Amino acid sequence: MKNILVTGGAGFIGSAFVRRMVQRYPEFHIITFDKLTYAGNLDNLLPVKDAPNHTFVRADIADREAVRATLEQYSVDTIVNFAAESHVDRSILDPDAFIRTDVFGVYTLLDVGRQHGIGRFLQVSTDEVYGDVHEGFSVETDPFLPNSPYAASKAAGELMVRSYFVTYGMDTVVTRGSNTYGYYQYPEKLIPFFITEALDDRPLPVYGDGRQVRDWLHVDDHASGVEVVLLHGKSGEAYNIAGEDLRYNIDVTHALLKLLGKPETLIKHVPDRPGHDRRYAMNADKLKALGWQRQMTFEQGLAATVQWYQDNAWWWRKIKTGEYLEYYKRQYAARLANATNVSS
Ligand code: NAD
Ligand code: TYD
Repeated sequence: MKNILVTGGAGFIGSAFVRRMVQRYPEFHIITFDKLTYAGNLDNLLPVKDAPNHTFVRADIADREAVRATLEQYSVDTIVNFAAESHVDRSILDPDAFIRTDVFGVYTLLDVGRQHGIGRFLQVSTDEVYGDVHEGFSVETDPFLPNSPYAASKAAGELMVRSYFVTYGMDTVVTRGSNTYGYYQYPEKLIPFFITEALDDRPLPVYGDGRQVRDWLHVDDHASGVEVVLLHGKSGEAYNIAGEDLRYNIDVTHALLKLLGKPETLIKHVPDRPGHDRRYAMNADKLKALGWQRQMTFEQGLAATVQWYQDNAWWWRKIKTGEYLEYYKRQYAARLANATNVSS
């Protein structure tokens, strides 16, 4: 392993992985390959901008020729695929791009990678492939029951990876991370969205009763989980990366308001997301057996994240313009007009 292609490395989790690997492994050449969609952001890579062991390539994982040329130019021997359309609400509004990137893009990377003779292929997946987990904790052998177009596209991508392992003997591994939060997260996902809205005294639209449960994982713990699986995971296997910190959305919202010193009157309960999974929860024993351990508790991580968004308005204020505002209008205008109650 020497020349590692990190696709989607300008996004939230991919950039945390790139920053980590560039700094920890000067002997590796990290090539970030990213289309720079609305979610990709070169500011996320500023800390490694001048690193001699990092290169950035702007291209699309569904573009066979661009993938081929990059694998060849940089003698790539390893692929870590973070590239994806990643937001459930956008997948409900417009599923097309999800199929193109999360399914066809994964297939393209696998197929060109196989022809090029790459070694390890790591696919970054999600707990959402398991669907709604009413009780207990998902283990890696549980069936896939995805419920949103996003989750279905990620499940399909994973199944392509499995087929390349079984049929062509490719060296593949998969990670399934839980809900991730931390610095540099695009402010459409729950935590950065609510922090940045609350900082501007704007309403926080909680879907339904807010009693949905998510398992929260700090982005640096997610990146270290991917690193451990890349280096030590067994070929053909999948590994859950779980924070094992389960919280109701409404409790996360209260905690954020408290950290920010903002009033609870900002909370608006709005009509629920269609097909909304009530609970995600995973068991991380398989990854722990490889030596991985979560470093950040949710309390520590949330406080650090709030502080980062307070200190780095330069990073998120320029995102909350243009296309972002169009999306905000489509997603929230009617919902907020139908807000039924206000928590106190
Ligand atoms: P993100 O939306 O912040 O970043 C995605 C990145 O992929 C962006 O830089 C974007 O420009 C790039 N990209 C999108 N389409 C591309 C294409 N066709 N070709 C090349 N690059 C493309 O996403 P994220 O939250 O960092 O998630 C990264 C990965 O982790 C995804 O695969 C996601 O499914 C998975 N995941 C995310 C979470 C979470 O809570 N955010 C949890 C578990 C798993
Ligand atoms: P999100 O960050 O979109 O991640 P996911 O849907 O992948 O879990 O949402 C986390 C939870 O927060 C989810 O249950 C939906 C809820 N949510 C809201 O209640 N309001 C919002 O505006 C957003 C973006 C999410």
